[in-house]
Amino acid sequence: MADFNSEFWSWFISAIVVGGFIWMLYLLQINNKAQLPEDGEAKPTGHVWDEDLQELNTPLPRWWLYMFYITIVFGAVYLALYPGLGSYKGVLGWSSVGEYEAEVAKADAEFGPLYDKFLNEDLAALATSKDAMRTGERLYVNYCAVCHGSDARGAKGFPNLRDNDWLYGGDPETIKTTIMYGRTGAMPAWEGALGGAEGVAQVAEYVQQLAGRDIDADVAEQGKAKFDVFCVACHTPEGTGIQAMGAPNLTDNIWLYGGSAKAIKQTIAMGREGRMPAHAEFLGEAKVHILAAYIYSLSNENE
Ligand code: HEC
Ligand code: HEC
Repeated sequence: MADFNSEFWSWFISAIVVGGFIWMLYLLQINNKAQLPEDGEAKPTGHVWDEDLQELNTPLPRWWLYMFYITIVFGAVYLALYPGLGSYKGVLGWSSVGEYEAEVAKADAEFGPLYDKFLNEDLAALATSKDAMRTGERLYVNYCAVCHGSDARGAKGFPNLRDNDWLYGGDPETIKTTIMYGRTGAMPAWEGALGGAEGVAQVAEYVQQLAGRDIDADVAEQGKAKFDVFCVACHTPEGTGIQAMGAPNLTDNIWLYGGSAKAIKQTIAMGREGRMPAHAEFLGEAKVHILAAYIYSLSNENE
């Protein structure tokens, strides 16, 4: 009820609940009054079916009636103990949020030591521990697969974590830093600086030459002149990128945002801003430590 800023709805719901109780009691009271007549024979109500099947005005059996009273008492006691009447919190102070938090605290107390025991281990060594990597895989599926894919091969805009191509670096400590504090890739939009679509097309041609494709050499030549002015600060003159800036290697033909001429032009014209969220607070260092070792183990699987 805390979501409502006026007390109205709390009273509204309470009134419906209490009204329901009163209505049930009233109905029971009426039925209670229907007693058998003196002679013990129930009178017909006048409804007749199938020629001779009569409905009699027989009162409810006592035990049946008492069951109704018991359910009403049960309901009243329940509403006194637990939240149900508008914003009234109940005598026990129970809440679903409180229950959830208690469960999380209990799970942390139970499983926390399982994660903590790995925290002091060297990441590269941890990556060879079957036990830790099983835990790592579970954590990965829970927290990372939504973005990087259940097979960790990524998707457009979400890097493949299994290969040896890294935006930010693939040594275990760098992977851990990436997961702990997150990353934001900042590729500016260049359409204006490059003088519109033609300039973008020229640079895109050169970028494809860097990646080793067959291209129009004249156009690429013009693109190179622009690349040397605008792009080398982050992607280096050779186009191999700078991991400290998260600027990808453009020569390896591995593309974060797609390698078609169209996708490359769009990247250059409009810019990109991939965001890897920070997990330090959300997961805690112990889980991130295991995850870093797990990611490191994935990329080294084939060696
Ligand atoms: C909301 C989506 C999202 C989630 C969840 C997410 N990531 Fe990422 N991650 C990204 C994006 C986007 C990037 C690329 C950032 C960029 O373009 O600069 C990235 C980058 C990375 C990188 C750097 C890769 C490289 O080439 O340097 C690693 C490592 C990584 N993520 C691991 C993880 C792990 C482990 C988890 C689970 C704890 C996780 N990510 C959860 C979106 C996500
Ligand atoms: C300020 C540094 C910076 C400059 C200058 C810069 N880039 Fe980038 N570029 C990046 C970063 C960072 C990314 C990755 C963005 C992400 O992870 O979301 C990127 C991504 C790209 C990509 C996508 C690669 C892929 O794998 O999909 C292309 C293509 C690219 N840049 C080309 C260029 C060109 C051409 C220029 C010059 C006109 C340029 N960049 C200038 C930082 C820069």
